[in-house]
Amino acid sequence: MAVATKGILAAAFFCSAGHALAQRSAAVPEIPFIPTPPAVVERMLSLAGVGPDDFVIDLGSGDGRILIEAAKLGARGFGVEIDPKLVKLSNAAALKAGVGVQISFFQQDLFKTPLGAASVVAMYLPPEANFKLRPRLLSELKPGSRIVAHQFAMAGWLPDLQENVQGTEVYVWIVPARVAGEWRVRIGDREFDLQLKQLFQELTGVAIINGVPIPLGLARLQGDQILLVLEGFGAIPLTLTGVAEGDVMRSVPGSAESWTAKKK
Ligand SMILES: C[S@@+](CC[C@H](N)C(=O)[O-])C[C@H]1O[C@@H](n2cnc3c(N)ncnc32)[C@H](O)[C@@H]1O
Repeated sequence: MAVATKGILAAAFFCSAGHALAQRSAAVPEIPFIPTPPAVVERMLSLAGVGPDDFVIDLGSGDGRILIEAAKLGARGFGVEIDPKLVKLSNAAALKAGVGVQISFFQQDLFKTPLGAASVVAMYLPPEANFKLRPRLLSELKPGSRIVAHQFAMAGWLPDLQENVQGTEVYVWIVPARVAGEWRVRIGDREFDLQLKQLFQELTGVAIINGVPIPLGLARLQGDQILLVLEGFGAIPLTLTGVAEGDVMRSVPGSAESWTAKKK
């Protein structure tokens, strides 16, 4: 099939995939190879903040272009691709670019690829695939890991960053820590209960102070970093900043207040 014809068919496929966004249970359609334009690759890596500390997993790596550019920024990682010809091409291109030691490409089903090693996951996949991957991205990646996608969103989970690049969308999600639930907060000799509700990175909460529920003035979560603002706790709003790690939240050096919280 001529490349141009293949491109038009693929574009039509991705359009119809876009319309299927609302059909959350829709099966994942066959995913064709459509390369991400170089300017979009560059912006994806920049928005995701890819650098030497990162391990990037490219799901459906095509000709390897995203991971090769990530490696030029110092990242390590691997790409998985179903088409063996593209795998071969990608490994050859990585060697030619001088980054063959940092990255490698495998023929593997992206839906069966363990994701836990990644600090960044890159993908250019239809919305059904993004949605199917969503639970695994949330459960296997560490809080603070980034997911960067070209063109298609992930139903239900708002991106932390979104930018239009040359007429196409780039999305970045930051994997949030799991903080929903009941907490006991301690600040010096003061203690109170805190109830947090979470929808991905969106957070709301109520502090129970002297038996009185007081909604938080502000609650923010980015990766494992948390900000809680309590009004009515004293004369001025109390600002708690820190990190969330499993069943513990705590201030970090430089936080205005020294505090800890334990999950009940
Ligand atoms: C839209 S292309 C994106 C290519 C590349 N990531 C880019 O952005 O330039 C999607 C790629 O996923 C590959 N693919 C499709 N199904 C796959 C699967 N189940 N496992 C791994 N790769 C798959 C396709 O062969 C294709 O190369």
